[in-house]
Amino acid sequence: MSALLPVLAARLSAAATATFGTSYAEVGPELRAATRPEFGHFQTSLALKLAKSLGLPPRVIAERLVAAAELDDLCSLEIAGPGFVNLTVHSSVLAAAVNSLAGQLPARGERVVVDYSQPNVAKQMHVGHLRSTVIGDALCNVLAYVGYEVIRQNHVGDWGTQFGMMVEQVLFEQLEVGSLDIEGLQQLYQRGRKHFDTEPAFADRSRARVVLLQSGDAATLAIWAQMVEVSLVEFDRLYAVLGSPLDRSDVVGESAYNDQLPGIVDDLAAAGLLTESDGAQCAFLPGFVGRDGSPLPVIVRKSDGGFGYSATDLAAVRYRVADLHADRIIYVVDHRQGLHFQQIFTLARNAGWLPATTQAEHVAFGTVLGPDGKPFKTRDGGTVRLASLLADAVARASALLAGRDDEMPAAQRQAIADAVGIGAVKYADLASDRINDYVFDLDRMVAMSGNTGPYLQYAHARLTRLLDKAGEAPGPVTMLAEPAEQRLALLLTGFGDAVVQVAETLQPHKLCTYLYEVASALSAFYETCPVLPSTGEQRAGRLGLCAATRTVLHDGLGLLGIKAPDSM
Ligand code: ARG
Repeated sequence: MSALLPVLAARLSAAATATFGTSYAEVGPELRAATRPEFGHFQTSLALKLAKSLGLPPRVIAERLVAAAELDDLCSLEIAGPGFVNLTVHSSVLAAAVNSLAGQLPARGERVVVDYSQPNVAKQMHVGHLRSTVIGDALCNVLAYVGYEVIRQNHVGDWGTQFGMMVEQVLFEQLEVGSLDIEGLQQLYQRGRKHFDTEPAFADRSRARVVLLQSGDAATLAIWAQMVEVSLVEFDRLYAVLGSPLDRSDVVGESAYNDQLPGIVDDLAAAGLLTESDGAQCAFLPGFVGRDGSPLPVIVRKSDGGFGYSATDLAAVRYRVADLHADRIIYVVDHRQGLHFQQIFTLARNAGWLPATTQAEHVAFGTVLGPDGKPFKTRDGGTVRLASLLADAVARASALLAGRDDEMPAAQRQAIADAVGIGAVKYADLASDRINDYVFDLDRMVAMSGNTGPYLQYAHARLTRLLDKAGEAPGPVTMLAEPAEQRLALLLTGFGDAVVQVAETLQPHKLCTYLYEVASALSAFYETCPVLPSTGEQRAGRLGLCAATRTVLHDGLGLLGIKAPDSM
């Protein structure tokens, strides 16, 4: 038994049900970590919650609960204040729980599809893609940990009318696309755009080229495929820098659905879900109206006959349910696309592509802001390239670590700087509620104190060094006499719960908060409980506590997609 809270909660529930019957049912055990050490380890406000329906004073209810609860083997119970029940776990129970911290949960036979990262071909990745990639990776790890089978889907933006224009510009300039890099492609796009806007004949050719592309013309597709390849090479490079597991096998770009789009429109039309409006095929869904009350349709087929972003997303939902057999689909996309996804989910349900048994969720996130509090931009108003941002973070980490350990080989030093710089950026992205905007501030991100990645990495590296130095294998934790030891031990037993909470709420910041609490409890422990100078059973036990803390920090950071180097 390693997670204490669920065990205590289950026993408390059993006692409450036996004593109070149905009035208990809708309340639940109300058990949480105690807010102050003098309240024990856990506390419940169950008696106060039941007072109204039972018509009894809370303290009387608390007394009955304590009398009925069979918890003596695990903890002592005390009634406090108006009717709170405080639980203090026996130190031997706490020690046993730390010695048997549970790992990954068994498979639950459910499949979750996670749509994330989603960069666009011929464009540099930017901070929005950073957020989607970092949050998506963390959620995939956490969902796998709690037993889901995870299928990653990188819905790369590789299709659309702009590619007609770009192919035409390639032909016009007689370019060898394979010799370009992503920046070269982005500039090609800009030249094409200008050309399109200034020369009507070129615009006409571009439109004709879109038709050729969509109908599978080999020469057109070959040029397009080269643009996709150049872009994917760059995305792969950035995933490697970020330490993201995303690879080619996860890419199912917008183009993959091209053949299915006419069928999507036909099916919607047959179901009576489409209305023609200004030549476009639209779905008007009840409840989707703008501020002024005007309806907000989903445009499934544009007036020029082309299909857009929405048609593709409908085909993707259908594929994920019918072919990938998703029980749950998660979209990690910025909050501005909230309405789009609500419309897609509703329309897909109406069309029968998204059954009630499959959950679809938009995991929205806020905007990355510059120092001025406005959306992050370069000085000349351009998008900040993710590549340069990550390079800056690593350079900053290198500077911080310079001169720490002169003996260290340069390659190892570089690996640590990479881990710290990238870890700092990722942690800052994950540490606050994802729906909030945040300011991109490298100084704050790489700081070695406060709720930062480097602070947690340092806590882990310091533990590694201590355990190395000890010269003896950490023993099992046997006694936990000191309050600081107990507090740390108690937190460690909550690791599994913290991960489960993230899986349930899809809010990775809860794991960050938990790990930060662990690291803070660790420094309080260091202050009052010397480890290396202690002796005998106490030394072995404290080493055991350190080893368990190291594992929790290592695994927790790992779930967040952050490396934990052994030295810093
Ligand atoms: N490529 C899009 C963008 O960069 C995001 C795609 C989100 N995923 C989806 N299934 N629509 O904005």
